[in-house]
Amino acid sequence: MTQMIKTVRGHDIPALGFGTFELKGEEGVAAIRTAIELGYRQIDTAIRYGNEVEVGRAIREAGVPREELFVTSKIWFDNLAPDLVPKRVDEILERLGFDHVDLLLVHWPSKVVPMGETLAAFEEERTKGRARLIGVSNFTVALLDEALDVHNADLFCNQVEYHPFLSQQKLLERMGRAGMLLNAYQPIARGKVFQSDLLNALGKKYGKSASQVTLRWHIQQDTVGAIPRSARIENIRANFDIFDFELSPEEMAAIHALARGERYTRFDWEPVWDD
Ligand SMILES: NC(=O)c1ccc[n+]([C@@H]2O[C@H](COP(=O)([O-])OP(=O)(O)OC[C@H]3O[C@@H](n4cnc5c(N)ncnc54)[C@H](OP(=O)(O)O)[C@@H]3O)[C@@H](O)[C@H]2O)c1
Repeated sequence: MTQMIKTVRGHDIPALGFGTFELKGEEGVAAIRTAIELGYRQIDTAIRYGNEVEVGRAIREAGVPREELFVTSKIWFDNLAPDLVPKRVDEILERLGFDHVDLLLVHWPSKVVPMGETLAAFEEERTKGRARLIGVSNFTVALLDEALDVHNADLFCNQVEYHPFLSQQKLLERMGRAGMLLNAYQPIARGKVFQSDLLNALGKKYGKSASQVTLRWHIQQDTVGAIPRSARIENIRANFDIFDFELSPEEMAAIHALARGERYTRFDWEPVWDD
């Protein structure tokens, strides 16, 4: 199966990645290694997931050259002060066993540290080559306006919750103007896509599942990637088997029309969302 590559701000990223939240210990290593063996080349981790050691081990055990992989990690919002960022990057690289990550993300915006200070510290990591690219996660249009217009940040992506039941049109419009990638987390709505008649019917038409149709819908959008997670080999394999069919423009629109403002990731530290 041939992976789809997106070129964003002059850099390539495999459109379909592998999420690793909760994939820990020997089982976690096995799941991540399986994903790489099956063809996934974009791996998403975070300090918060406590599994960077597992990610590094799985990559080495899979035997795929490091330069063929696109590895992302993220720094939690309580560690975004400029003196803390390099320390956290030291630890990320130590745990992964690599000399750089491909993408370093602000995991959630800080309500305490001025954004410009964090972005300058991230930019410094990029200049030093310890992060090939930098970006953010869980940023709204207003936060992106500040990052892009006030601080002139060179952001590769914004990783946010996105699936057929949650529209991200406002963000997509803003990020499209900035030439950024929207990398969709919880892309299959934690499995709730299987409850949709439309997604199941489209699956039947193409000999696919609701999950495969949904992932295909994500990556057929110009500036969208997706990072589904699974601990089961059959689901890891199925989620990667989406490169041999294509949804029509009408089917893409029908899936967009399923949006109903359903958001599964809710925290008391979240920003005021756009939807
Ligand atoms: N930046 C952030 O703040 C943030 C927040 C949340 C998530 N993320 C990232 O996004 C990744 C994905 O999000 P997520 O893991 O929460 O949600 P998700 O990928 O939408 O859904 C994962 C769930 O769906 C099930 N599943 C996966 N493929 C399936 C299939 N083909 N058939 C049936 N069930 C299937 C998995 O169970 P099985 O294991 O049994 O297959 C798991 O319970 C995370 O792992 C993480 O890397 C980032």
